[in-house]
Formats: sequence, structure tokens, C-alpha cells
Amino acid sequence: MDIIEMTDEQGNWYKYKRYDGRPYVPLVYGNVKDQLQLLDSYEFRNDDVFLCTYPKSGTHWVHNIINMLRTGSMKHQGGHELMEFHDIKRLDNMSHPRTIATHITYNILPSTIKCGVGKIVYVMRNPKDVFVSLKCFLGLLKKNVYEGDTDGLLRIFLSDEFGIGVGGSWFNHTKEWDNAKSVNTALNIHTIKYEDIKRDPYGEIEKLAKFLETDSSVTFLDNIVKHIEFDRMKEEHTKSAGATEQWAHLCENGRLPLYRKGIIGDWRNMLTVSQNEVFDAAIKDKLSTLVQEGFPSDECHDVMRFENRQSGLQQIKSTGAQEVLSEMDDRRRREKNILVFGVKEQTSSDGKERKGKDEKEIEEMLRASSLPSEARKCVTKIFRLGKFDKEKEDQF
Ligand code: A3P
Repeated sequence: MDIIEMTDEQGNWYKYKRYDGRPYVPLVYGNVKDQLQLLDSYEFRNDDVFLCTYPKSGTHWVHNIINMLRTGSMKHQGGHELMEFHDIKRLDNMSHPRTIATHITYNILPSTIKCGVGKIVYVMRNPKDVFVSLKCFLGLLKKNVYEGDTDGLLRIFLSDEFGIGVGGSWFNHTKEWDNAKSVNTALNIHTIKYEDIKRDPYGEIEKLAKFLETDSSVTFLDNIVKHIEFDRMKEEHTKSAGATEQWAHLCENGRLPLYRKGIIGDWRNMLTVSQNEVFDAAIKDKLSTLVQEGFPSDECHDVMRFENRQSGLQQIKSTGAQEVLSEMDDRRRREKNILVFGVKEQTSSDGKERKGKDEKEIEEMLRASSLPSEARKCVTKIFRLGKFDKEKEDQF
């Protein structure tokens, strides 16, 4: 195993563990190799439930739901013990039936689980909201894990070397689990979307109860719905549970700042248009091979569906999608546009002459720039964005 210390383009430092070609968050126990091997040979039980998620997808939320369903107790569970973060002996000390959380990517999941021992609950969330949740979470920690801004973190998040997950980036995690679901028929797996629990908690908890074969009576499920409501869980977390020794070095009172907003689509408040476009480009680029219906979020599907429509594969049926598509078409047309600042206002009264002068001036500016000649041909229209400010002439 290597400890990788990286400095991003803005000079922000961060570190992670690397083993066998994969990045790991430093919290993974020991030298990674031994931990993975021990987990691989561990005898999990058929009554174990594995909660598999990428960080910030709603792990604590679903953990509480599963726990309530399985134990019948409405007591809030402050934390979940990720199996890769601790000495393996902790697994033996857990009371049965166990609900074991993990952020491990599928390909490095322990063999017994891959062979179908136990049940798997896999939680997915729109990656843009995962990213925003993570960015805010890191900002609230006492000891900064990464001090860069949104641009900096986004660049790392979208790369394959993102060392906050366990064995891969959000994209690797999603692709491996998607593939696993389609090829490994031994898996007893139930998939939940964060957004679906938010929109229809009762319906999703009911499906989960059926999968876990627990009580699914209306009164019981209604009671759970009340107890897993965001404000209630947040309050419980700060008052009665949630503090652990484990996190004392990272956060106030040993409580992870987990309960932030708990909403769908907060990325719209945080990502700029260009950050969002970069995100979309990564989704198109990295998720085109996904096979599972509905994987991993509606947001990704909107982005991918646009791609499909371009190649005539799929029709858009949902209401309002046309607007989104025409906006995206428009954006695509503008994708290769080049903005040239500082083209002076031409004073001639002859439109043709003004156009000719503009073109000449732009051509000269582009020639002086480092743009290749093909790129220069992309200039097709001229818009002036406000009046040229003489005082700022030096800047151009
Ligand atoms: P936000 O930061 O977007 O608010 P995890 O447990 O995997 O670390 O995920 C944390 C995210 O789940 C946080 O997202 C948190 O607010 C959200 N979450 C936790 N409990 C929730 C609840 N009861 N309802 C909605 N969202 C919840």
C-alpha cells in the first residue's frame, strides 16, 4: 500500500491510501491489503444485511430505517460502523441480526457476500447532490481533509483517483454495482434511491420491509416514517446519539456533521453553470455503459437520455422534457463557441463595413492567440456584451 500525498492545481494538499491500483480514504483500517483479505475470508451470515453506499448518499438515514424495521425499536442510531474502517473483531462483537454498512466498491467486496450470503441494500443518490453534500461536510470538519474550493474538489471528484471512497470514485462505485446487479444473479439485492425515499417514504419503506421480510403493518410503517423525518433525526443526532470517540479528532463533540439540509437538488444552489456542464460531460463520458434501468438517478438519466436522443435511440416522454432538451440542444450548439473580449465598437454607418472591420479585428486577435486555425473558423457571430470600457483597455 502507498500513501499518496497530492497537491491539486491550486496548491491544496490532500492524501489518501492506494492499494492494487485503487484509491482508498485514509480511514480504511491498516494497510488496506490485510483488511480486504480478512474481510474476504470472513464468514458472514445469512441473516446479515449489508448496507452498500457511496459516502453522502443517505447511508445513516437508510441505516436507521433498516434498524427500525429489523428491531422494531424507534431508537436513533447515531453512527454505523463501516466494516472497512475497523478492526475486524468488531464484526464479532455486533449483536445479531447485524446490519453492516460499507462504502466498498463491488469488485473488492468480500467473496462470501458476492456468493449471495445475506441481503444487500444498495442506496443511490444524484451524484451532483452527493458532491455538494460532501463538499459541505468536508468544510465542517475540524481538521480539513481538503481545503480547496468547489472547482478544485470537483476536478478530483470527477477523476478516477478520488480518494474519499473505498476502492474508487463515485463513478467507479456506480459502474461496478450496476454491472454486479446485471451479472451476479446470486446477489439478493434491493436498490433504493435517496430521491424516492424523500418523495414517498412510506412506499419505499414498505418495499424495504418486504425485501427484509419484516413487519409491514400500516401502523408500524407509519411510525417509522415519523421517526426518520429529517428534522427529527437531526435533533436526535445532536441531542441523544451521534457522538463517538472515533470522530472526536474530526468534529465538535465527536458528532459527524451529517444532517445538513436533507433535500433533493441542492446542487442547483451551489454549482455554477460551467461546473454543472463539466459534471454533465463526465456523466455522459463515464456512465454510457450502464445497463440497469433507472441506475443511478433521474438526473443522470436526463443527461444520458439527451445523448440517446441524439443518436435516435430513445424518445422523451416526460412532461417538460422538451424544454430541457431544447435548452440542451442550444447549449450543445454553443459548446464550441469562442468568446472574444475587447472588440471595439465600429463607428461606420455602413453595416457591411462595420461587419468587415469586426471580422478583420477578430481575425487578428485570434491569430495573435494560441488557438489553432480550425478553432478560428468557429467564430460565426458577433455579440457585444455591454459597452467597451476604455479605462479597462489595458486589460485586453
Ligand atoms: P445533505 O448534506 O445533502 O443534507 P450519509 O449518511 O451517506 O453520509 O449521507 C448524508 C446525507 O444524507 C446528508 O445530505 C444528510 O442531510 C442526508 N440525510 C440524512 N438523514 C436524512 C433524512 N432523514 N432525510 C433526508 N436526508 C437525510
